[in-house]
Amino acid sequence: MTPSPRPPHVDTRPDSIVTTASEGESAPARGYLLDNARAEAGERFRWLAELFDGVTRGHFDRLGVKAGSRCWEVGAGGRSIPEALAAAVGPTGHVLATDIDPSWLNAGNGYEVRQHDVAADPAPEPGTFDLVHARLVLVHVPDRARALATMAAALRPGGWLLIEDADTALQPLACVDDSGPAQLRANRLRDAVRELLARRGADLRYGRTLPRALREAGLVDVAAAGSFPVGGLACDRLEASTIRHVRGELLEAGLTDDAEIDAHLAAIEAGELDLTLAPLISAWGRRPTENPQALD
Ligand SMILES: C[S@@+](CC[C@H](N)C(=O)[O-])C[C@H]1O[C@@H](n2cnc3c(N)ncnc32)[C@H](O)[C@@H]1O
Repeated sequence: MTPSPRPPHVDTRPDSIVTTASEGESAPARGYLLDNARAEAGERFRWLAELFDGVTRGHFDRLGVKAGSRCWEVGAGGRSIPEALAAAVGPTGHVLATDIDPSWLNAGNGYEVRQHDVAADPAPEPGTFDLVHARLVLVHVPDRARALATMAAALRPGGWLLIEDADTALQPLACVDDSGPAQLRANRLRDAVRELLARRGADLRYGRTLPRALREAGLVDVAAAGSFPVGGLACDRLEASTIRHVRGELLEAGLTDDAEIDAHLAAIEAGELDLTLAPLISAWGRRPTENPQALD
């Protein structure tokens, strides 16, 4: 399978290297399903930003990100959140953006970029960050407890951890208004994508566990909120990018066929599905100021 041409409206990778398993050898059976090596990843980052950056930035403001803050953006994917953080913290602050594949990020744009596996590598600059944030990352990471411990260890005493993850079991439908065959087909294909994610070790019920997981990681003042969009262009574009991204894996797994995928993509293009997403659960907690070394 060859990556589809990159549309002009999405971020381009600063490097031009697009060597992927999808171009040659067969794709790995394990690991992150929606890997950044494909052009569709850049489209997905654009539409995720459109759908969720407002929610995320609201939490940043509420948790006190300001000029001079030190922030670590984990599994950053695209550029919008590192850029927003860099604008908020200004020249006296510091933003570190990491990813297992950081190739969509643009170092030198007010933030530092590093390749980092949050489930395997130690915390960078432990005990120093005012805010550590990960959105739609941990759901894909098999060793989530270790990843959480790494992020908690990076916080200064009193610093905030903000984790945002989907709970696709809470609302598994692509079309909540399943009024016809196109909507039912969309729901069948959403189930198929969820099946692929589960086979890669994603926890489809992870979002709801976040408050407990943050408390178990030793954080205090823990709370959470959820949100999801219903309908609109960004939902349509995100769905089309996702389906194109995993088309080969869906076919290989025998979960659908070309005709069903093509009919679904045509229905998205027609703009009549009112597609929706799983709720994004945003949960936050603070490293205690008393006995903070318990998290090291
Ligand atoms: C669904 S994307 C979300 C990107 C971005 N956080 C957002 O909300 O738009 C998941 C991102 O997590 C990254 N990722 C997956 N596993 C990771 C790991 N173990 N450590 C660091 N990043 C990881 C992927 O490379 C990808 O960029």
